[in-house]
Amino acid sequence: MNAVVVGAYWGDEGKGKIVDLLASDFDWVVRYNGGDNAGHTIVAEGKKIVLHIIPSGILNGKSVAIGPDVFFNPLSFIKDLEEVHSKGFSPGRILIDERCHLILPYHIALDSGQEKSQNIGTTKRGIGPAAKDKASRIENITVADLISGNFSQRLLQAMNSKKAELVQYGIISEDSFAAYAEKIFAEYSAYSDKIAPFAGSVAYELHEAVANGKSILMEGAQGALLDIVHGTRPYVTSSNTVAGGAFANIGINPKSFRIIGIVKAYPTRVGEGPFPTQLDNELGKQIQEEGFEFGATTGRPRKAGMPDFVALKYSAIINGVEEWAITKADVLAGKRFSAAVYYEKDGEKTKKFPLKLEGWKPVYDKEYFFPTISEQQAMEMVKGGYDSLPEGLKEYIKDLVQYTGVPVSMVSLSPKREITVIKNVLERTWECLR
Ligand code: IMP
Repeated sequence: MNAVVVGAYWGDEGKGKIVDLLASDFDWVVRYNGGDNAGHTIVAEGKKIVLHIIPSGILNGKSVAIGPDVFFNPLSFIKDLEEVHSKGFSPGRILIDERCHLILPYHIALDSGQEKSQNIGTTKRGIGPAAKDKASRIENITVADLISGNFSQRLLQAMNSKKAELVQYGIISEDSFAAYAEKIFAEYSAYSDKIAPFAGSVAYELHEAVANGKSILMEGAQGALLDIVHGTRPYVTSSNTVAGGAFANIGINPKSFRIIGIVKAYPTRVGEGPFPTQLDNELGKQIQEEGFEFGATTGRPRKAGMPDFVALKYSAIINGVEEWAITKADVLAGKRFSAAVYYEKDGEKTKKFPLKLEGWKPVYDKEYFFPTISEQQAMEMVKGGYDSLPEGLKEYIKDLVQYTGVPVSMVSLSPKREITVIKNVLERTWECLR
């Protein structure tokens, strides 16, 4: 079986842990979108590691690939690889698609400059400006360009057509253009030798892998509600985060892929943009602290909210989710919480996630509660499976399943790989749908 793993809300759902857990069953782990705006924190073999662009499957010695729609910052890749080596992990095959678009220093500078007026709350990693250049078809530079003999020519061509914009944002003056280009050329030429051994075609290599009976796990960055098309525009990222993006962006037949949605027990959001169930109170702060909700890439605090079934149903639809993996359920232990079951605005009610969220207020149903879970109890729940979970948690899971029409296959109770309840979860939650 092949699978796509996708975040259900606005990212930071804990996909890294689930991918790390699942990776042992797959031959390849592939990143299909985003760039180094993402950060996956994984606790594996007792070591904490944060990866920004390399798929977390690398920790299991699997073959990993960075697909052609990933915006590629060579320095982030080199740093990730150093981190993997320094923590004592031995990487398997690493493949970077030669079609990946490069993030260049001026993309990062433009991202910061443009943020002042657009206020999207980006990670300032240059993703938006690099995506604009990709769409321009002329101003983009790819990994293939970087490792080719004519990188200098391509860089100058791209930069020349961006000159006015770079001057407008104060990144260069008319006089400093040549020196700025020279500096970038020198820096990126040094990266080129380190990148070249990994460059190739992900579409061809994965096609061959599938033909040889190998299995593939595709890992999305961010979450479905940050999708450039389906998300809460304009407060979104610049790529297709939804599961379907994996097939378009990698260039692979979707038929044999199972779609796994990662749903954090409570949503979080970082950056700007509406967040209907945001908790602007003590409970929100408690969840933020106990869930370590601080950006892995930017260190920014993530706003935390109540579970939102309206958003999850939408996410189930736009991704085609076939099963949910619930992460960080332990963080809700000891807290009274509810889930949004519809939204209301000026007397109007809806169960459909609105295009413009402003003014819509979530309406909650029943209250859930389950007591704090010690590590030893969590280990027992791993052995006992779904039936041994606390009643309040099972009630919440059952309602989530019935509302979204999607069963749950895993419940994570700790950042540790081994503390994930899998036994009986899928079959018991299927029963809720019959
Ligand atoms: P960008 O992707 O840096 O352009 O940021 C656009 C929006 O996506 C901002 O609201 C960011 O906070 C958000 N975003 C980007 N990457 C992540 C992520 O990995 N987790 C959560 N939010 C993200």
